[in-house]
Amino acid sequence: MEKTSLILVGAQWGDEGKGKITDWLSSHMDYCVRYQGGHNAGHTLYIDGKKTVLHLIPSGIFHAKTIAIIGSGVVISPSHLWKEIEELKASGLNMNPEKLWISPNAPVITSFHQQLDVAREAKGDVKIGTTGKGIGPTYEDVAARKSIHLKDLLDIHVLTAKLKNIATEKNALLQLVYGMNPVSVEEEAKTLFEYGQKLKNYLKNFQNEFFNDSEKNKNSKILYEGAQGILLDLKFGTYPYVTSSHTVPMGAHFGAGINHYESCLKLGVLKAYTTRVGEGPFPTELFDSMGETIQTKGKEFGATTGRKRRCGWLDMPLLRYAIQVGHLDAFAMTKVDVMAELGDVKICTHYEYTDETNSHKKISIYSNDLDLKKVRPVFQTLPGWDAVVDQKGQLTKELKHYLDVVESELKRPISLLGTGVGREDLMILKPQVFGSLMS
Ligand code: GDP
Ligand code: IMO
Ligand code: MG
Repeated sequence: MEKTSLILVGAQWGDEGKGKITDWLSSHMDYCVRYQGGHNAGHTLYIDGKKTVLHLIPSGIFHAKTIAIIGSGVVISPSHLWKEIEELKASGLNMNPEKLWISPNAPVITSFHQQLDVAREAKGDVKIGTTGKGIGPTYEDVAARKSIHLKDLLDIHVLTAKLKNIATEKNALLQLVYGMNPVSVEEEAKTLFEYGQKLKNYLKNFQNEFFNDSEKNKNSKILYEGAQGILLDLKFGTYPYVTSSHTVPMGAHFGAGINHYESCLKLGVLKAYTTRVGEGPFPTELFDSMGETIQTKGKEFGATTGRKRRCGWLDMPLLRYAIQVGHLDAFAMTKVDVMAELGDVKICTHYEYTDETNSHKKISIYSNDLDLKKVRPVFQTLPGWDAVVDQKGQLTKELKHYLDVVESELKRPISLLGTGVGREDLMILKPQVFGSLMS
């Protein structure tokens, strides 16, 4: 089937370079849509040497003709969103409401949610290592049918009533369980109402553009920009060390209301090695000087929290699983430049696992009933590369071999290759993957 739009997701535990790839592909797109997560995401772009980290605004915003959309599956901190809009405006970008559409039905992260997130991480029994932005508690209220939506910020009476509806329980938790100060409904309502006034021109019920106006939908190229990564999906990820939204491509269906999943190319962004921020098992994690070298060379610090990212080799069982649950068609691989001059490199081809009856198993693909803490990764060693390209501008043979091995292990093409932080540091290896999407 000819692919008319594209869903781009992280294929690992986030921070694969989705922002950079989204920015690059968006020059071909009419719309760029965020559909889940919130400002826990940090998507880094370097355009003409200038660094921008986007948390809520879609990474296609820098292209004049691309409309940026924030769908109703995204949880919104109004203060953060406004700050991001103001900063982009100050940098000279067109941030007029025709350029950015925000769903009036997007759930709002309030101080209640943010403080509960922080309190649970500090004092709760199980530490997930969240970003502390209030993401989990906000999605909890969506499921509990108590969510405050952006459109509610426009009516102080509705807003106050909805805040009261969550205040009793949440203030009891904050005070009695976590020993924190309560949140004042009146002050919270006042602050949120003020942000509602600032943001109101951006609220647009764009659903009609995608559902009713089918001709337009059919002729538009849409890039759905995932946040986090498949292994952090609430349902399919390495639970409980996950985020609270659906990061698999299917999430685009719920978070943006799309009705053309089948006709979307599903592109997984993949780092040439693996990183993880926060808690949770990580079979190929490196605890030696190689891990430190990759962390330092790759500048592996969280774009949202500044935390050091844990680093390890590429993990085929996890990636095969990501392909399976994410219906991935192809990959974009980033950061191969970081792996230059490391000496020999490794990939984990499978796991060994000893079950409770003491029998040994070879595991080629992760499944989410498997206890990742108990697996033993088995590695294949491959020759490392000294540079990404040789003097003729061709991929060095060792890097080419690495890509060939990964492609044959995963049975998916690597279509794009990230070779540096800049927008231009990208090689198109297999343009045919994109068909008419890149024309
Ligand atoms: P995202 O959350 O998936 O958008 O990724 P982040 O922005 O959190 O982290 C990716 C980091 O790697 C950022 O600092 C990017 O500037 C950087 N990056 C992306 N692609 C490449 C690449 O191909 N090479 C190098 N060296 N850095 C890259
Ligand atoms: P981008 O879009 C990497 C991780 C947190 C924590 C877990 C739950 O930049 O790839 P949360 O605050 O979401 O409740 O935290 O998920 N996490 C990310 N890790 N990249 C991200 O986003 C992440 N967003 C959340 O570190 O382990
Ligand atoms: Mg990130």
